[in-house]
Amino acid sequence: MKNQFSDFFGAFCGEELAGYIGGRTIAGETEIFNVAVAPKFRRNGLGKALIEKFIETVREKETEQIFLEVRASNLPAINLYEKNGFAFFGIRKDYYDDPKENAILMHLAFDGSMEYEEWDDEE
Ligand SMILES: CC(C)(COP(=O)(O)OP(=O)(O)OC[C@H]1O[C@@H](n2cnc3c(N)ncnc32)[C@H](O)[C@@H]1OP(=O)(O)O)[C@@H](O)C(=O)NCCC(=O)NCCS
Repeated sequence: MKNQFSDFFGAFCGEELAGYIGGRTIAGETEIFNVAVAPKFRRNGLGKALIEKFIETVREKETEQIFLEVRASNLPAINLYEKNGFAFFGIRKDYYDDPKENAILMHLAFDGSMEYEEWDDEE
């Protein structure tokens, strides 16, 4: 599914939805809303394939960076994102409810714009 701003992809095994990813790109910035793989299809590379497809698609829209939030305890997802080039960007305190938990904000920048240079007072 696709419109001017949003991209959603489903991965099917026959008629069965095995996984999906969705996000939105506006003004050179992309946000991933969610990626999920049904429990019986996990650990087969589907999550990685969905992220790769999503990244390839938004790069064609000339996005400069992708952001996402993930529960701080969600190690499978954090590992998946790191494996696909995402890096820690910040923490949103108590972002989630039921249970209350911090969000880790992660990003993937394509143009190096998120790399900060050290400030030199002497100059
Ligand atoms: C996160 C999720 C999408 C991963 O999907 P998946 O198809 O199992 O992932 P893949 O098989 O492509 O795995 C890719 C990498 O992710 C990491 N990973 C996936 N599952 C993991 C687990 N249970 N524990 C630790 N790392 C894990 C690993 O680094 C893995 O690489 P490896 O297999 O070479 O070790 C899946 O676990 C899921 O749907 N979770 C529930 C929904 C969710 O939390 N989504 C994220 C919302 S922000």
